[in-house]
Amino acid sequence: MVNTKVSLSGWELDNPVIPASGTFGYGYEFAELYDINCLGTFSFKGTTKEPRFGNPTPRIAECPAGMINSVGLQNPGVDAVINEELPKLAKCFDKKVIANVSGFSIDEYAYTCELLDKQEQVGLLEVNVSCPNVHNGGMSFGTDPECAAAVTKAVKAVTTKPVYIKLTPNVTDIVSVAKACEQAGADGISMINTLLGMRIDLRTKKPVIANKMGGFSGSAILPVAVRMIYQVYEAVNIPIIGMGGVGSAHDVIELMLAGASAVQVGAANLVDPFICKKIIEDLPKEMEKYNIDDLSKIIGGAHNG
Ligand code: FUM
Repeated sequence: MVNTKVSLSGWELDNPVIPASGTFGYGYEFAELYDINCLGTFSFKGTTKEPRFGNPTPRIAECPAGMINSVGLQNPGVDAVINEELPKLAKCFDKKVIANVSGFSIDEYAYTCELLDKQEQVGLLEVNVSCPNVHNGGMSFGTDPECAAAVTKAVKAVTTKPVYIKLTPNVTDIVSVAKACEQAGADGISMINTLLGMRIDLRTKKPVIANKMGGFSGSAILPVAVRMIYQVYEAVNIPIIGMGGVGSAHDVIELMLAGASAVQVGAANLVDPFICKKIIEDLPKEMEKYNIDDLSKIIGGAHNG
């Protein structure tokens, strides 16, 4: 019998598999397909203070081994999430959830996090300073270590639950941003968000996406995620939730060996809505194949020796 349990800042998960924000709605939509209580947990759609309609369409461009999205943080706003989405989730999910939060100012991040921190269903706050699809917010906070630290400090000042900062790979030195967040009090790091990408339609000779650029995700970015998680693991002493191109139990183990304590699955959910269930079912045999009896013991294993 292998042990798939892992923990994030004292929160024990049955397994490390977590659907990523923006690819799993508020959870109950997927509960129509299978019992989502098999998941480690999941991260709900990026939530902001006010409701957001999102970016103009088209918002999606297909790519070899991935896709580009420019959704623009479409969400019903924090009040509706608390009053409507979380009660619906409570009917089908017995575990605590990760609250993913975005903002357009430091005060907005703090405001939304403070409200979500008070919700019994929330186990951890994932603060997204890395959305590439909005102007004057999102990624602009995560490309500067000082801004990322300022968001971290402001959120930590008004919350009690673990705060993980979700970082962008669209920087020269992700380690300096991770270290700044750790010094500002972050309990953990989530990484990586999408890579800024673009496609052009040869018939119209114009960008495919209305917003021109968007976040590239999918299996093509796995090696970038592995590299960045490996680098950040060497530099910080807080847990990392790894993500980026994960689509199999093999990928989960690879990110954990690089340094992830748990692993999110993003774009793959949009291709196969059952993928997280399948990965969880596959994990024990993949562990046996590589002589792993306890997943928590392999975290950062690639750094030894
Ligand atoms: O545009 C979006 O809603 C995506 C957000 C993100 O990648 O952080």
